[in-house]
Amino acid sequence: MRRKDSEDLVRVGPGTAMGEMMRQYWMPAAKSSEVEADGAPMRLMLLGEQLIAFRDTSGRVGVMDHRCPHRCASLFLGRNEENGIRCIYHGWKYDADGNCVDTPNLAGNPGFKNRIKAKAYKVVERNGLIWVYMGNRKVAPPLPEIEATLLPESDVTITFIQRECNWLQALEGDIDTSHFGFLHAGAIEPEVVADDSLFRFTVQNRAPEYHVTDTPAGTMYAAYREADPAHTYWRFANFMMPFWTQTPQGKFTEHLHNRAWVPMDDHHTMFVSLTWRQHPPSVGADKHGKMMPGFDRTFHFLPNTTEWHGRWRLAGRPVNDWMVDRAAQKTGGNYSGIEGIHAQDQAVTESMGPITDHLFEKLAPSDGMIMATRRRLLKAARALAKDGTVPPGVDDPDIMYAVRSGDFITDAKMNWRQAYDAQMRASFRPLKQAAE
Ligand code: FES
Ligand SMILES: [Fe+2]
Repeated sequence: MRRKDSEDLVRVGPGTAMGEMMRQYWMPAAKSSEVEADGAPMRLMLLGEQLIAFRDTSGRVGVMDHRCPHRCASLFLGRNEENGIRCIYHGWKYDADGNCVDTPNLAGNPGFKNRIKAKAYKVVERNGLIWVYMGNRKVAPPLPEIEATLLPESDVTITFIQRECNWLQALEGDIDTSHFGFLHAGAIEPEVVADDSLFRFTVQNRAPEYHVTDTPAGTMYAAYREADPAHTYWRFANFMMPFWTQTPQGKFTEHLHNRAWVPMDDHHTMFVSLTWRQHPPSVGADKHGKMMPGFDRTFHFLPNTTEWHGRWRLAGRPVNDWMVDRAAQKTGGNYSGIEGIHAQDQAVTESMGPITDHLFEKLAPSDGMIMATRRRLLKAARALAKDGTVPPGVDDPDIMYAVRSGDFITDAKMNWRQAYDAQMRASFRPLKQAAE
């Protein structure tokens, strides 16, 4: 990879290739529950911009530059009162759209406020998420039709977790399937896996083969192994523009794992996960019903603070070596010594440093999906920069909907695209099926 390619991929601030591309899309930025009507404003870091979010008296959410347009005092300190945020310095007040509605220190000049506008972004709430559009279209594009984001909040589990590294290396953990048999399950022997679990194929053969392809929404891979001489075991996953993944965490037809890796800045990322399952998840138990080492699904959060990077941090962090337990690693049956699948992914991607050095990497044939995804991102970002080509999914949000991931077994003769299409047809679609 060239230095320029790497820089274009990782930087997200205003004016950067990826930053400009991401600004074309609506982004899930916070949980609706994070801001209360007339409650304290919240510091919100997004694409390298320091913003505040607040909910006004009538329930509308405003998201704007944290600096008051008068003399740049932070509106984080502001008074959230009567449908607007009032700066505590000279009392200027802004509504959720950023209109200046009062300048009480200029009593003799009531028209002055009409010349002032806070730098506010468009905001929409849907199914428990606050979405922000940071692009410069007068009329924002439609929201993406990522399947789990269309479902009622009560049907979906929404989780936010901050990661202390660049968005791309965080995302790439989701499309790097061969790590599963090592990082998460390197010390699990096939004999202990429950008989009806497809997971046993992952630990029987830790070196799958791959197909990778571009799709309308992004990229897709199929990792495959022999299940028995007449059958193939498949694992499919997707990347969807600009920072979404759909990971294989169960039976293809029965679950949705829509995950966004939303850049806070170049060095911090907010993982936004929406999961829906037709059936309760497996608990990571072995054939005797015992939790396998390292498979605990409990998240251990630090308390949220009001700092720019204070939201949704895990207890295991770079400063405490992600709480790696060397005894568990050596003799406890936990390959990584870190408890919890997500915490393990968090540790390895953060351990690369705030921004991984792409020029130091030696990518291998098992990294085909990562290479294809980087190419796809660069191509779309450069087409946008060159002649304004609108990136995939911005004006055609429905292409995001027809995407699924998961595992399944087919006849060994089945072609991978046919196998995927057959699974798509057989998938339970909660939204569609509810409407019928
Ligand atoms: S700096 Fe905000 S009103 Fe003056
Ligand atoms: Fe992982």
